[in-house]
Amino acid sequence: MTDPLLSVQGLRKSFGGRTVLKGVDFSVAAGEVVAFLGANGSGKSTTLRCVMGITAPDAGTISIAETALDSLQGRNLQEARQRMAMIFQKIHLIPRRTALDNVCAGALARIPTVRSLTPMLFPADVQQEALDCLDRVGLADRAFDRVGRLSGGQQQRVAVARALCQRADVVLADEPVSALDPHAAEQVMALLRELAHSEGLAVAAVLHQPDLALRYADRSIGLLQGSMTFDLPSTEITADHLDTLYAPDRNIAA
Ligand SMILES: Nc1ncnc2c1ncn2[C@@H]1O[C@H](COP(=O)(O)OP(=O)(O)OP(=O)(O)O)[C@@H](O)[C@H]1O
Ligand SMILES: [Mg+2]
Repeated sequence: MTDPLLSVQGLRKSFGGRTVLKGVDFSVAAGEVVAFLGANGSGKSTTLRCVMGITAPDAGTISIAETALDSLQGRNLQEARQRMAMIFQKIHLIPRRTALDNVCAGALARIPTVRSLTPMLFPADVQQEALDCLDRVGLADRAFDRVGRLSGGQQQRVAVARALCQRADVVLADEPVSALDPHAAEQVMALLRELAHSEGLAVAAVLHQPDLALRYADRSIGLLQGSMTFDLPSTEITADHLDTLYAPDRNIAA
């Protein structure tokens, strides 16, 4: 395997004396999709939130392209963090703005003088790049539609386009398809896999549908009460592996 683009070692997190991550280690290479599977409360979102820096971990090292984030400061740290983007089940877009504006917002960190989402303020080159990103997710023809008028699946693709416009190469997706119908879910997973395989993104996606993990993720990681139970090529995941995650008696504490 190629060198990992994202590498996480010894991630630990407690909330109020309850340990919810007990030492999570994984890596995602450029061009790879890794699925996180696990029951409710097993620590999947907390893992991604710690990696993203939304939640402060108690311990652990997060590295981008083999550089530990805690060895960086100031602009270098900001630039490394900009390489990561997160997308969520509940889509965080501005519904009254166009798809294009929402995608342009991904570039905000590169254009610090732009402090609002006033469309005229996005430079022409950013708008062009955003259009290109919408094209890459198959939505160039919807660029000037308000996001609130797009379907859930289309909105999630806009969120992916915004990550691309941020020029993120590590995409963390927390249940990106849980709110979507089966067809839209397939489309979004196929898009994430295509972007990983053809453009070299590293994608880590929390999924509650093991069948999607088996079909779209190169590797799958099982989390059980804050500990990893497997990290395997998805083709090697068996019903027994899934039983260890979802059998009710194993999740009493969750
Ligand atoms: N901010 C918080 N404060 C206190 N406890 C929290 C906080 N965030 C998460 N937890 C707890 O950490 C544990 C793991 O939560 P997490 O959201 O990571 O689970 P999950 O695997 O994403 O579950 P789900 O499938 O339901 O989304 C849960 O017991 C949860 O209650
Ligand atoms: Mg979650």
